[in-house]
Amino acid sequence: MGVSSYARVAASLLTVSSVIAQSSTITVDNQTVAVNASTLSPAVAIVSDEDLSAPETLQLTDAVVANLTSIDLANASLFAFDDNATSIDARSLGCKVFPGDQAYPSTLVWYIFDLLLGQSLIKTVPLAAPCYNDWPSEENAALCTTITNNWTDSYLHEEDPTSIMWPLYQGRTCMPTDDPTANCTLGAYPSYAVNVSSVAQIQLAVNFARNANLRLVVKNTGHDFNGKSAGAGALSIWTHHLRDITYIPEYNSTIYTGKAVKMGAGVRAFEIYTAAQSLGVTVVGGEGRTVGVGGGFLAGGGHSPLSSLYGMAADQVLSIEVVTPDGRFVTASLEENPDLFWGLRGGGGSTFGVVVSVTARVYPVLPVTVMTFSFATSTNLTSTTFWEGVRTYFDYFVEYTDAGIYAYFSTILTGADSYSFGMAPFFAPNKTVSEVEALVAPWFDRLAALGITITPVINEYSDFYDAWWANFPLETVGITNIKTASRLFPKSNWANDTSLNATFDAIKTTVELGGSFLAFNIAAAENDNSDNSVNPAWRGTCLHAILATLWDSSANDTTIVEASETLTYDWMQKWRDVSPNAGAYMSEADISEPNFQQAFYGTNYDRLYALKQQYDPKSLFYTPTGVGSENWYITGQLTGLPTQNGRLCPV
Ligand SMILES: Cc1cc2nc3c(=O)[nH]c(=O)nc-3n(C[C@H](O)[C@H](O)[C@H](O)COP(=O)(O)OP(=O)(O)OC[C@H]3O[C@@H](n4cnc5c(N)ncnc54)[C@H](O)[C@@H]3O)c2cc1C
Ligand SMILES: *[C@@H]1O[C@H](CO)[C@@H](O)[C@H](O)[C@H]1NC(C)=O
Ligand SMILES: *[C@@H]1O[C@H](CO)[C@@H](O)[C@H](O)[C@H]1NC(C)=O
Ligand SMILES: *[C@@H]1O[C@H](CO)[C@@H](O)[C@H](O)[C@H]1NC(C)=O
Ligand SMILES: *[C@@H]1O[C@H](CO)[C@@H](O)[C@H](O)[C@H]1NC(C)=O
Ligand SMILES: *[C@@H]1O[C@H](CO)[C@@H](O)[C@H](O)[C@H]1NC(C)=O
Ligand SMILES: *[C@@H]1O[C@H](CO)[C@@H](O)[C@H](O)[C@H]1NC(C)=O
Ligand SMILES: *[C@@H]1O[C@H](CO)[C@@H](O)[C@H](O)[C@H]1NC(C)=O
Ligand SMILES: *[C@@H]1O[C@H](CO)[C@@H](O)[C@H](O)[C@H]1NC(C)=O
Ligand SMILES: *[C@@H]1O[C@H](CO)[C@@H](O)[C@H](O)[C@H]1NC(C)=O
Ligand SMILES: *[C@@H]1O[C@H](CO)[C@@H](O)[C@H](O)[C@H]1NC(C)=O
Ligand SMILES: *[C@@H]1O[C@H](CO)[C@@H](O)[C@H](O)[C@H]1NC(C)=O
Ligand SMILES: *[C@@H]1O[C@H](CO)[C@@H](O)[C@H](O)[C@H]1NC(C)=O
Repeated sequence: MGVSSYARVAASLLTVSSVIAQSSTITVDNQTVAVNASTLSPAVAIVSDEDLSAPETLQLTDAVVANLTSIDLANASLFAFDDNATSIDARSLGCKVFPGDQAYPSTLVWYIFDLLLGQSLIKTVPLAAPCYNDWPSEENAALCTTITNNWTDSYLHEEDPTSIMWPLYQGRTCMPTDDPTANCTLGAYPSYAVNVSSVAQIQLAVNFARNANLRLVVKNTGHDFNGKSAGAGALSIWTHHLRDITYIPEYNSTIYTGKAVKMGAGVRAFEIYTAAQSLGVTVVGGEGRTVGVGGGFLAGGGHSPLSSLYGMAADQVLSIEVVTPDGRFVTASLEENPDLFWGLRGGGGSTFGVVVSVTARVYPVLPVTVMTFSFATSTNLTSTTFWEGVRTYFDYFVEYTDAGIYAYFSTILTGADSYSFGMAPFFAPNKTVSEVEALVAPWFDRLAALGITITPVINEYSDFYDAWWANFPLETVGITNIKTASRLFPKSNWANDTSLNATFDAIKTTVELGGSFLAFNIAAAENDNSDNSVNPAWRGTCLHAILATLWDSSANDTTIVEASETLTYDWMQKWRDVSPNAGAYMSEADISEPNFQQAFYGTNYDRLYALKQQYDPKSLFYTPTGVGSENWYITGQLTGLPTQNGRLCPV
């Protein structure tokens, strides 16, 4: 894969005309700076504390920063903290500095930054660069073939410092190709990434980006559906290698005493589930195998196959270690920085700082029963009867989530007046096969009465990991012919047949129009740790529904924009009309969602916005649809097809 190339890139970042160790000056690109050579070792102090993971013991302290002032840069405070920053209008700082600007750091400054980081700075090479003539030092036909063939595999993108899994939002400026004469440009890939393995590196990057007015991006796995982990011209903090996992047999806080796990921000679902299985506990994480649990997933709230039973992933969090926009490394918990703790659990990724690790409560091992089946229109099953069959399911949504069930199902148009329904899977934690059979018997009897024949496959597993691994295959990423939007339909729509029929009819109409309906029958149970910033719409839902529009892979931008706007303003309006005060899940959402503040954050928005001004007065952190993002825009965008390929500027 392209992954081995980045180490090389860091080493050849530039040509240095003098050897630092013996010199008191460095010259790069004809720019010379006087340095105290001893300060150009990695800027780090070791802080010992048994509660800290190894990366957390390596910190940037005031004493370390004080030493850096012996580097005679024009701005010696380039790496300094930003204590007691007073509230300013961040917009007065103008657009974030962009490569080529007068104010953009010189190659020499990047070089010094890399030395202070302990040489973990990576100059971006687009993942698909080996396919292109215009990247002669990368061009490699065999590598290009491997990258092309693996492009839909999430592991490929996770191992790359800047690649993201939904290239539409990168601008599709360097897709795998068999035409090497095409052009490959960075697009929305950040210019540089820091491959972090210590808190000190995060602190340095945060301070540098803030002091130099650079755009800052945080990339963990790159799963984000809306390009939140990309940004043109940016410096990126890549948290992928923060993967420590520590078991805490007896965590003790005001609200919880018991077993917990502490995980680095880079830990992915399959890793924490594997660890949990061997520890004999159950962790609340998502269904996607390679999603980063402590990164964007948890920051958005995090829904899980266990959410109907135990709540959102954010509801399990006991404390978070985080580098805040001032560069300081702090703990956020109910006891320390409780307001920050509230905001980090639901307010969205890359908003209040860089999360380093998360400590979450765990549960005992529990058995899980899982069922899959499908049915479709055929010569024996008319579309009218098909829809009656789907409608019978809707009658049980509240009952099933009350029983702790999570179900992931789909209804799609497969041809003229042809449809299929897929249950993949019906996931029943803490239930036996016979309990599940008894639970669904009334529904299945109605399907049988309609003449709909199903052949359920049902299995019981002794723990969560085995049930999850067997039933959630690795999903396809990297494609550019799909856009999704979503809605958290409120349980109150199930109060009577009139409102339920209106809900069902709105969904049915959008599927008839060609939308793919991918939905979760799920509830977000509450516990005594649910006082967090998770979208309040989650608490009242029994249906998290996604609607997707697809276009031909060869479609031009005009066609994509049309499809996109039809989804946002026509199809989704039908859903909003029947759920006017509800919301949508920010992490599986339409980037163009109208009034996103209400939809993604609900009544929490004002408090989150105030918290954002307090912790990030200079708007160092930005993501599309993030808290406060309405104050910024990306230049050069096509309406209906927003990307992160442009300058970030104040409105
Ligand atoms: C295949 C697939 C399956 C999914 N399954 C589920 C699911 O079951 N449940 C669910 O709730 N969601 C699911 N999602 C959505 C998922 O929660 C979001 O895509 C989420 O943003 C991914 O977070 P990440 O850290 O892995 O990805 P990234 O794209 O790397 O990051 C996402 C956002 O979080 C920020 N971020 C990441 N790490 C940090 C950090 N350490 N500190 C601060 N900010 C950070 C990034 O800047 C970005 O804004 C799925 C997505 C995909 C593509
Ligand atoms: C450095 O200076 C030399 C001589 O003035 C000049 O030829 C060269 O282009 C300069 N290099 C850069 C990178 O500015
Ligand atoms: C380098 O810094 C150290 C520590 O601050 C100081 O003792 C030493 O004199 C400095 N050396 C030079 C050449 O400036
Ligand atoms: C500052 O630099 C001096 C000289 O190199 C070194 O001895 C000292 O450990 C440094 N202090 C810190 C906190 O890094
Ligand atoms: C910031 O404020 C705190 C508390 O008022 C004070 O102790 C600290 O010295 C201040 N820091 C700076 C750099 O002014
Ligand atoms: C994916 O990449 C791996 C190694 O990086 C390679 O062995 C494999 O053949 C690739 N898969 C495809 C389908 O090309
Ligand atoms: C590549 O970029 C160059 C320079 O901008 C341009 O002239 C050329 O037409 C581009 N080629 C393609 C295939 O787009
Ligand atoms: C937890 O902390 C409380 C208050 O400090 C204390 O009373 C209690 O004994 C502790 N419990 C455990 C199991 O350590
Ligand atoms: C339709 O029903 C007939 C009779 O029950 C059966 O033989 C046939 O296989 C069914 N066809 C389909 C497509 O289900
Ligand atoms: C799991 O099921 C058992 C037996 O029905 C029950 O006692 C227990 O409370 C359930 N656990 C949860 C978390 O619902
Ligand atoms: C049905 O429920 C909706 C939503 O809760 C409510 O607004 C409406 O008044 C109810 N209608 C009837 C006929 O009960
Ligand atoms: C709701 O829809 C069902 C099935 O289509 C129908 O039988 C019922 O009469 C409808 N109820 C109302 C109140 O519209
Ligand atoms: C884009 O594609 C559509 C459908 O093929 C076609 O009608 C339209 O003319 C194209 N527009 C442009 C600008 O090429």
